[in-house]
Amino acid sequence: MIPGLPTLVSNISFVFSRGDSYLGRMVSDIAEIMANCRRCVVLTGAGMSAESGVPTFRGKDGLWRKFRAEELATMEAFLDNSKIVWEWYNWRRDLMSKVQPNSGHHAIRELETLCDNFVLITQNVDNLHRVAGTQSILELHGNIHHNKCVDCNKPCESSLSIDPDNIPTCEHCGGKIRPDVVWFGEMLDPVVINQAFQESEQADIFFSVGTSAIIYPAASLPPLAKRSGATLVEVNVEETPISFLADFQVREKSGEFLPRLVAALKGKTEPG
Ligand code: APR
Repeated sequence: MIPGLPTLVSNISFVFSRGDSYLGRMVSDIAEIMANCRRCVVLTGAGMSAESGVPTFRGKDGLWRKFRAEELATMEAFLDNSKIVWEWYNWRRDLMSKVQPNSGHHAIRELETLCDNFVLITQNVDNLHRVAGTQSILELHGNIHHNKCVDCNKPCESSLSIDPDNIPTCEHCGGKIRPDVVWFGEMLDPVVINQAFQESEQADIFFSVGTSAIIYPAASLPPLAKRSGATLVEVNVEETPISFLADFQVREKSGEFLPRLVAALKGKTEPG
C-alpha cells in the first residue's frame, strides 16, 4: 500500500460529503423561505446559458477577452463599420440558434409555475428562457433575434437574416436595420428597466444567477432588492462584487443548483 493513500482518499470523501450536505442544507433552507414567499424575482446573466454552450462575456473564455466591445457593440462601431458589426451578430445568432435551454432554464420555468408571483429579469439576448417556456420575462438588453431601425427605432418585421454586404433599410424612414439589443453607452428601454426596478423593490426573494454584476443598471437590482427587504440568493461559480450582500452564496453551476431547488420546493408544495 502506498503510504498516505488511505488518508488522502478519506480526506477527499470527507470534503465532498461535507460540501454536499452543506449545499443540501442551503437548498432546503432556501426552499423553506420560498414556500412562505409571495414574490420571487430572478435576474440572470450570461453564466445562465454557459451550460448550453453560449460563451459568457468575461472570465477565462469570455467574448470580451477575444473581441473588442467598442468595435462591435456600440453605436459608433455600427456607424463606422456596420458590415463588421452585422458579421459579428450573424455569427452570434447562428451560434445561439443551434443551442438548447439547459436544466437551469427549465428549472426557472418550473419555478414560475410554483410561485404565486414570479418575474424573470434577464440580461441575456439569446432567447433561451423563452424557448424553455418561461412567460413573465423582462429582457433588459433586448433580443438578438429581433431587428430595429438605427434611426427611428421602430421594430423591423422583415426576415431575420441580414446580408452584411447589403444591409436592408427601414420601410418608415430609410435608416439602416440593426439588431434589437442594447449596446454599450445606450439607454435601456425605460418601460422595461422601470418595471425591473419595481419588481426588485417588491421581491420577497431575489436570485442573482450567472451574472458578474458589474454592468449597470442591471447590477443595481440585487442591492435594491436586498435594501428593500428581500432575501438575496446569489448563484455563481465565482465571487462577484455583490456576493458580500447575499444571504446565500451558492457556488454552484446554475444548471445543477436550480433543478435541486425546484425538487426541494416541489417536496414542500405538493401534497404527499
Ligand atoms: N453557473 C453559474 N454562474 C456561471 C456559470 C454557471 N454555469 N458559468 C459562468 N458563470 C458566471 C461567471 O462566474 C460570471 O460571474 O457567470 C458570470 C458571467 O458574467 P459576464 O460574462 O460578465 O456576463 P453578464 O453578467 O451577463 O454580463 C452583463 O455585459 O457585455 C455585457 O451586454 C452584455 O448582458 C451582458 C452584460
